[in-house]
Amino acid sequence: MSERTVFLEAAMEAGRAAGALLRQRLGLSSQVSYKGEVDLVTESDNLSQGLIVARLTELFPGHDILAEEGLTRESGSSFRWVVDPLDGTTNFAHHFPVFCVSIGLEVEGRTELGLVYDPMREEMFWALRGEGAFLNGNRIRVSAVAELGQSLLATGFPYDIRQTGDNIAHFGNFVVRAQAIRRCGSAALDLCYVACGRFDGFWEMKLNPWDVCAGALIVREAGGRATDFSGREFPSTVSHILASNGFLHGQMMDVLGKG
Ligand code: IPD
Ligand code: CA
Ligand code: CA
Repeated sequence: MSERTVFLEAAMEAGRAAGALLRQRLGLSSQVSYKGEVDLVTESDNLSQGLIVARLTELFPGHDILAEEGLTRESGSSFRWVVDPLDGTTNFAHHFPVFCVSIGLEVEGRTELGLVYDPMREEMFWALRGEGAFLNGNRIRVSAVAELGQSLLATGFPYDIRQTGDNIAHFGNFVVRAQAIRRCGSAALDLCYVACGRFDGFWEMKLNPWDVCAGALIVREAGGRATDFSGREFPSTVSHILASNGFLHGQMMDVLGKG
């Protein structure tokens, strides 16, 4: 078994276990605390993270970790796991069943593996760099929609929207040009939906590495593009992301240029 396959199997196992925990806890009233005015965190975020990090640490004690809920291990290792233990926390807290677990692995700063698991639909998206993208074992591809007017797009809004109004202008510009726009509340799933052709494009501002690390690789390996708003390939530290099937990328960059 190649080293990457070992990493993939570990990520799958951790993702499935964390996903099962989240599915079980959905709808239970649990403690919610606030990181910001509207940015919340539930007990489930922390339990899911604990489970994933414990498993990865047990298997790969020398690897670094960046996980959303305040966990960073920086030892200078060339391997870094980037973990969002619950992407879609606001949905989860409202018992709205759209959320996932996202796990990426960077090797020397480049994403080699991405895995996103939606426990409600039992959909496991994954990609290894250079080997394509998969959904439950079947190869996935981006859509072929080439006209913005026929596209189904997705976006999200940052937690500081009340102060900044960020993305409202872009949303206004897209909503009159696309066929329709959805705001599902999980950036990692939005990216996977671009990868498998359910969405034709996605843009969002102020995302974090754990939101996009896995999903951006899955989009690229499915034949799409994941860049910043100017079309530059990005490392997962970039925060404004534009992902598309490739055909719409230029048209979406033009609209973002008007915002
Ligand atoms: C959030 C979700 C949401 C996006 C936010 C993210 P979280 O992640 O991905 O769709 O609009 O910007 O922060 O907080 O649920 O892990
Ligand atoms: Ca997230
Ligand atoms: Ca999260």
